[in-house]
Amino acid sequence: MEIKKVGIVGCGLMGSGVAEVCAKTGYKTIVREISEEALKKGESRILKSLDKAIEKGKATAEQKKQALDNLSFTTKLEDLKEVDLVIEAAVENMEEKKKVFKTLDGLCPPHTIFASNTSSLSIVEMGSVTKRISKILGMHFFNPVPVMKLVELVKPITISEEVFETAKKFALSLGKTAIIAKDTPGFIVNLLLIPYLLDAVRAVESGVATKEDIDTGMTMGCGHPMGPITLLDFVGLDTTYFIAEAMYQEFKDTRYAAPPLLKTMVLAGYNGRKVGRGFYTYQ
Ligand code: 3HC
Repeated sequence: MEIKKVGIVGCGLMGSGVAEVCAKTGYKTIVREISEEALKKGESRILKSLDKAIEKGKATAEQKKQALDNLSFTTKLEDLKEVDLVIEAAVENMEEKKKVFKTLDGLCPPHTIFASNTSSLSIVEMGSVTKRISKILGMHFFNPVPVMKLVELVKPITISEEVFETAKKFALSLGKTAIIAKDTPGFIVNLLLIPYLLDAVRAVESGVATKEDIDTGMTMGCGHPMGPITLLDFVGLDTTYFIAEAMYQEFKDTRYAAPPLLKTMVLAGYNGRKVGRGFYTYQ
């Protein structure tokens, strides 16, 4: 089957990036958020990113116009009833994701493929509330989506080969490189990244070094584009905390246990760059 129309659920950091990339590639893309305010915020993030792409020579004004022509916005889940593929990028909460997929299952035609951008939650569990468990997979994008070249395709044991191949073809059409992982918490990237980020917080907590020196260690010593503390602020402390918790619950391995400092900062609302304050402060 061919994908022509895509529905994106959630227009936060990840959803807006995924929507932008789909629309830029030429797919009719409809984005749903829960409130007009959240939609406006997401839309302006997309506009800003398209302008930055032009400024960096990665897109033309004509491509920006085409992308915007392909995009539409709604607060109603019902408006996604005619899409060929749904990419869910809502909050990292299993109950919320199940609610979304259950509702969409009753609205969308049988051929519609469901994908979740979850970082760590079980795809099979999300699919279990639908009548299309052979048509659900994980499509895990990376932040910033228009820049990062990777998509992790999460292949649950329930998916049909034909659906998986269609989803893979779609991911490649976005200009991304696809890697394939089992439906296991953290998949490939977060299985390795989360313990690294948590260890960096533990290093700050135990006074091994300043956060600046930890960051410099990894940028200048290992050639990473960002040090782990800057990356935590970039990904979001709350997001990192939720992923770590989900992985800890599943594996009961202390490598995934969030250090007290991370929890305290999340409770304080110091969630990183998106709120202007994390380990560092931002304008
Ligand atoms: N659209 C298209 N391209 C863009 C763009 C846009 N809006 N904005 C920037 N670019 C391009 C630039 O042209 C440049 O391309 P080039 O390398 O060919 O010249 C490249 O992107 C870098 O852009 P900048 O020069 O503006 O920015 P920096 O060099 O400061 O890099 C960064 C910014 C890409 C964010 C870099 O710091 C980085 O890679 N950081 C690490 C990000 C990372 O690890 N992300 C993954 C997080 S984990 C995750 O998301 C999973 C989740 O589950 C936790």
